[in-house]
Amino acid sequence: MAPSPHPKSILILGHGVFGLSTAYALSLRPSFANTRITVLDRSPFPSPDGSSIDSSRIIRADYHDAAYASLAEAAQKIWRQQGPNDLGGEGRYTESGLVLVANKGEQGEEYVRGSLDNVARIARDLGDEGAVQEFKLRAEIEEAVGAGGGSGDWGYINRRSGWADAEAGMLWLRRKVEATGRVEFKQGEVVSLVKDGRKVTGAKLTTGKVESADLVILATGAWSGKLIDLRGRAQATGQVLCYLDITKEEQEKLGKCPVLLNMSTGMFIIPPSNGVLKVARHGYGLSNPRSIPSPDDPSENIMVSLPKTTHDDPNLWVPAEGERACRKALREMIPSLAERPFTKSKICWYTDTPNGDFIITYHPDYEGLFLATGGSGHGYKFLPVIGDKIVDCVEGNYPEEFREKWCWAEECVEECVTMDGSRGGVPGLILEDELRKGSRL
Ligand SMILES: Cc1cc2nc3c(=O)[nH]c(=O)nc-3n(C[C@H](O)[C@H](O)[C@H](O)COP(=O)(O)OP(=O)(O)OC[C@H]3O[C@@H](n4cnc5c(N)ncnc54)[C@H](O)[C@@H]3O)c2cc1C
Ligand SMILES: *[C@@H]1O[C@H](CO)[C@@H](O)[C@H](O)[C@H]1NC(C)=O
Repeated sequence: MAPSPHPKSILILGHGVFGLSTAYALSLRPSFANTRITVLDRSPFPSPDGSSIDSSRIIRADYHDAAYASLAEAAQKIWRQQGPNDLGGEGRYTESGLVLVANKGEQGEEYVRGSLDNVARIARDLGDEGAVQEFKLRAEIEEAVGAGGGSGDWGYINRRSGWADAEAGMLWLRRKVEATGRVEFKQGEVVSLVKDGRKVTGAKLTTGKVESADLVILATGAWSGKLIDLRGRAQATGQVLCYLDITKEEQEKLGKCPVLLNMSTGMFIIPPSNGVLKVARHGYGLSNPRSIPSPDDPSENIMVSLPKTTHDDPNLWVPAEGERACRKALREMIPSLAERPFTKSKICWYTDTPNGDFIITYHPDYEGLFLATGGSGHGYKFLPVIGDKIVDCVEGNYPEEFREKWCWAEECVEECVTMDGSRGGVPGLILEDELRKGSRL
């Protein structure tokens, strides 16, 4: 529910891409000139286990959905600015091209077709038709990938997409926010929201301290289900990533390859940086169901999937099933590295919604509570534009094309699995079960 859209104080929980970009947009908007803005996170910046922090993220307008494709294209315009002080400068963004493939008749084909239509239209509108090229032959894919592998039977390359150094992008954004002098940063872990009847008045920390504000913006990513009841609307799903070390010569060669994303399996490889290559899966993910006190009524317990990261277990390694999938993809995509051991692995957490749509809206049942989450594994690329959209929504100006997508879903679903056509792997895997079957092959 919306209080006055221009409250005296705003408390943003979480300094990931959703929280930090919101802080930046608020601090620049004249209508919030008299608002005290605070950002609170449990971790120092950058969060070691935050979803916005990693060596790389794909920056693509390659979406099956036209609204996200256009918003991503708007973000890419800013990523492409390459001056030392610009977002895309100093190696933060590389326009390597993206090869998107799917086998005909298999999972992912429809997504790739829709995506091809959208990016071909965008390239045509910009007079850059040659940037997008459809592949009809295996040999064409192999040649475009340039890493020796890539045997899929259909797909395309979009030379207008690429990848970002995710952590460096977030450090850039943090510096921009700090330079405004408008935002106070605090560290502390929230245990619960503080309520006065149906009004949220702040957040209570593990220390017992309370941070009060007229408006609380919840941007705690995959952990959000601990602080409000999101059952049937969003849940944390763990995604597997494996990293391997490569030589200088391999870095030199593979560093020039495009991103390769196989929509039939969800497996992808982003060009390496600093001698490290990453193989990962954009999948249905692993859930980690926990019994926790209901945020609405702490006398009752509810089951919620919550992240498990190296913050909880420093020795955490991906389950064997995930490592095997990464190994298979590596063998297929870069045969010369087929048996190179993985030196690091990570489970990174998506905040998955049923359609892959973000949740950017006031909570319908609590006054003074706004939600900015539900990244669904594709939120990072919007770093330069999402804060403005979030603040538009805070002010009640919901962008027409996203009004229904980002709202609080009227109905819950039974199983909160993202069915946007882009995911690979098997739905329904449970982290603890998979870990019990073994890990560290
Ligand atoms: C493996 C992986 C690959 C991805 N690939 C891509 C990609 O290629 N392209 C793309 O566009 N997107 C990608 N994404 C998605 C994108 O990274 C996310 O959508 C985005 O980073 C989510 O940001 P966030 O701000 O919601 O969450 P986060 O960055 O996780 O931020 C949440 C913050 O909340 C804090 N927090 C949590 N609980 C509490 C608490 N109780 N008290 C205080 N603070 C708390 C955390 O410390 C954290 O800093 C990927 C995500 C993953 C995991
Ligand atoms: C994509 O995955 C499918 C299914 O495993 C596989 O047959 C195909 O060769 C892969 N494509 C590429 C380019 O790796």
